[in-house]
Amino acid sequence: MIKKSKLFATVLSSVLAFSMLAGCSSSGSSSSVASSSTSTAKPKKIVIGLSLPTQREERWVRDKDTMEKEAKAAGVELKVQVSDTDVAQQASQIENLISQGINVLIFAPVDGAAAAASVEKAQKAGIKVISYDRLIMNTNVDYYLSFDNVKVGELQGEYITKAVPKGNYIVMAGAPSDNNATLFKQGAMKFIQPLVDKGDIKIVTDQAVDNWEPKNAVNIVENSLTKNKNNIQAILAPNDGTAGGAIVSLTTQGLAGKVPITGQDAELTAAQRIVQGTQSMTIYKDTRELGKAAIIAAIKIANGEKPATTSTVNNKKMDVPSILLAAQVVDKNNIDKLLIESGYLKKDDVYKK
Ligand code: BGC
Repeated sequence: MIKKSKLFATVLSSVLAFSMLAGCSSSGSSSSVASSSTSTAKPKKIVIGLSLPTQREERWVRDKDTMEKEAKAAGVELKVQVSDTDVAQQASQIENLISQGINVLIFAPVDGAAAAASVEKAQKAGIKVISYDRLIMNTNVDYYLSFDNVKVGELQGEYITKAVPKGNYIVMAGAPSDNNATLFKQGAMKFIQPLVDKGDIKIVTDQAVDNWEPKNAVNIVENSLTKNKNNIQAILAPNDGTAGGAIVSLTTQGLAGKVPITGQDAELTAAQRIVQGTQSMTIYKDTRELGKAAIIAAIKIANGEKPATTSTVNNKKMDVPSILLAAQVVDKNNIDKLLIESGYLKKDDVYKK
């Protein structure tokens, strides 16, 4: 039985791969793949599915915009689904995409472990999966495109320990369901832990921010400030959303701008806080590059080619062939050069009063 269904899946995927390669399927043998076009004469367009976890944070809006633009320029169809950080919703959206007949799936999971089931469904239908930005765990993912996420954490850890080598720290991590959160923290702790061991830094609060929600960061920092009678010297915030939440709580206590705090994503509001002095730094990950790389890789895969990869990352099941882009520290000293001159943000917006 198992063998038979495996064989069926293999045959089905070869049929699909063939019909994609051939660019048309007048034989009608691939009836399980709904064509995106109703025309029978025209060659079939490559159809890429994109599943994103959210549009609440600016970076994911950019990822989506970039991929839509790149897909359009390349003449391929992009079917986009956004799940608003809901695991079940994302799974059903992916089933939907699979039944619509996509050739490749670009998948940024809400929950990296839960996502494995959707990957397996897609692969059974002959669809290859690119794990986008966040690693999908414990399954055979075809490709992983992201930034060097341990390095992102190292840059945050290095920055904050240089700014505050001694004192009481609030250490926040991102959503436990996101493998990136683990990597960011791992990287940051390479710099923080030795100073804790030396007795210079005391971590008074060490908490993950569920779902990456800023309001959870507001609460964590508010509680910590109360418990420690405002005696906090530094905050490790894993991204700009959580930094924004933390700064709300600092502001309430008149401490905004007095407690160095990290961030990540180069969001406009974070850039504004950096020039105003309430956030110390952010990490610039050019999601335009990541989005572009994903569309290029997806088209290659759909054409039966292998995208070039530069490394592998282990997802507890396999070493996933990966492309990891570089990230950079941004603070008030280089914000104009990195974010404005590169066209990522507009000067008028960043310096808006
Ligand atoms: C991304 C970050 C983002 C966070 C929350 C992470 O997986 O790498 O850029 O801030 O998710 O959405």
